[in-house]
Amino acid sequence: MTSDPPVHLAQPEDADDIAALSRDLIERGLPWTWRAARIRGAIRDPDTNVAVVRTDGALVAFGIMEYLEEDAYLSLLAVRAASQRRGVGRSLLRWLEASARVAGCRRIRVEARRDNGAARTFYNELGYHEVAVTRGRYGGDVDGVRLEKWLMPVPAP
Ligand SMILES: CC(C)(COP(=O)(O)OP(=O)(O)OC[C@H]1O[C@@H](n2cnc3c(N)ncnc32)[C@H](O)[C@@H]1OP(=O)(O)O)[C@@H](O)C(=O)NCCC(=O)NCCS
Repeated sequence: MTSDPPVHLAQPEDADDIAALSRDLIERGLPWTWRAARIRGAIRDPDTNVAVVRTDGALVAFGIMEYLEEDAYLSLLAVRAASQRRGVGRSLLRWLEASARVAGCRRIRVEARRDNGAARTFYNELGYHEVAVTRGRYGGDVDGVRLEKWLMPVPAP
């Protein structure tokens, strides 16, 4: 991809596609918790951005970021398999990070499955540091990894 794809705020009618992508790409093998009604709630939530990338009208990627007091929390991010490794995820995450800066957040937190090497490499490449392993975070033997990125200088201890 030669230029950044346009990122837009999701519309309620995107909820079914987003929920299906979450089920297939993020919650695979786990209980499906991000169903369309929950996505629509996130779209309505003034403290949350649900951002999407579309190609020829079809939704190819989405990200959900919640803006808390000092932290922003990236709840979900996924790029449809056929559109991966073209810089779509990078563009989407940068857009969400820019929004977090505007919202005054100092840090972004995110969690990934420990066995999700692609996501961990992706976040590492984009400046996220792994700060903890969370045993059984996704149930049973499925561990998580917590990552974070400071948007401003780390406060002195
Ligand atoms: C992780 C994910 C969002 C990355 O999206 P993407 O659009 O393919 O990523 P980009 O093309 O912007 O990649 C940026 C950089 O991240 C790294 N990266 C991305 N995917 C990678 C992979 N599969 N293996 C190794 N490194 C990878 C690379 O350094 C890449 O730069 P490069 O292509 O120039 O080498 C995508 O693989 C995905 O949707 N996975 C399934 C859902 C998921 O795991 N979401 C994250 C947990 S919520």
